[in-house]
Amino acid sequence: MRAVVCRQLGPLDTLVIEDQEPPVPGDGQVVVDLRAAGVNFVDGLICQGSYQLKPATPFVPGSEIAGEVSALGTGVTGVEVGDRVIAFVGFGGFAEQAVVPALSLIPVPDTIDFTRAAALIQSYSTMLFTLTRRTHLEPGEWVLVLGAGGGIGLAATDVARALGGRVIAAASSPEKLEAARAMGAEAVIAYEEEDLKTRAREIAGGGVDLVVDPVGGRHSEAALRATRHFGRFCVLGFASGPIASIPLNQVLLNNRTVIGVDWGGWTFKDPLGNRALIEELMGMVGSGRLHPVQPAPYPLEAAAEVMGGLIDRSIAGKAVLVP
Ligand SMILES: NC(=O)c1ccc[n+]([C@@H]2O[C@H](COP(=O)([O-])OP(=O)(O)OC[C@H]3O[C@@H](n4cnc5c(N)ncnc54)[C@H](OP(=O)(O)O)[C@@H]3O)[C@@H](O)[C@H]2O)c1
Repeated sequence: MRAVVCRQLGPLDTLVIEDQEPPVPGDGQVVVDLRAAGVNFVDGLICQGSYQLKPATPFVPGSEIAGEVSALGTGVTGVEVGDRVIAFVGFGGFAEQAVVPALSLIPVPDTIDFTRAAALIQSYSTMLFTLTRRTHLEPGEWVLVLGAGGGIGLAATDVARALGGRVIAAASSPEKLEAARAMGAEAVIAYEEEDLKTRAREIAGGGVDLVVDPVGGRHSEAALRATRHFGRFCVLGFASGPIASIPLNQVLLNNRTVIGVDWGGWTFKDPLGNRALIEELMGMVGSGRLHPVQPAPYPLEAAAEVMGGLIDRSIAGKAVLVP
């Protein structure tokens, strides 16, 4: 079976495609024939060696998969060959097949195709975790989403809308702003050209209730200043590179709250809680409450190109590899 292999951490163009022995499931494991694997910003950082997690090489990147179960290991119950499933695997997703613990499989509703299913686990789980576990978004609250045309940004917009929130999307390009509008954002701000704080306050009639910030850098402080009294600011990531340093008086003023979000870290601390979260998520997708975007499909050979496109900001929305 073919797999994308990272032999040493570094430039993405050093990734290679290799033929490997077909995997054999061990006790409690299954083999999944992959139909799609979601590509995330963080996958590229890991391969480049610029993420906090530095795996031993060689390894197969790719953390989220969708496909059909093709073989069962010993002791596996409740799973059948042919089941349509998704799983968050950490590594091993950019391949034709993956070995997965049976307990980590989540059934995919028939209403959603494999490409959309593969691309939603990380971004949507993170946003459902953020808006229902780390804070509670109330109906009618204004949410300012930074990087709104990216994976986290579009999921934030969709989940916030499903919970009754009103979304202001901030992004760098007309294409990304349009994607956020199509997802349900009521208003948009081109944050490389417009004054983020002033525009967000104007749109929300004084200030926003909550900020979702996966971008970091210079926009973070402006976004915090755009929050109203008792506003909340959710820190999700630093896609722009610099980790923002914000004067703490801006937290004191207006009784604001800064909320850290580490969905990945929480999944290890509370795997059962995470399973419940993902089942809730798939229920919302299956019932049509959430509308994950149709990702752009690419072959395995394009893994480096796609990860590079997320890192250089040229890709809007989501992308998947289709082996
Ligand atoms: N905390 C958590 O639990 C958690 C979970 C998942 C992901 N994350 C983090 O969230 C961040 C975003 O992930 P994602 O999947 O949404 O990535 P993505 O799809 O690549 O979107 C990131 C967005 O960041 C913006 N951006 C601004 N400056 C950038 C720069 N210099 N380089 C790249 N992007 C830049 C881009 O929007 P504009 O071009 O519109 O500015 C881009 O669309 C990452 O840092 C990731 O590690 C955190």
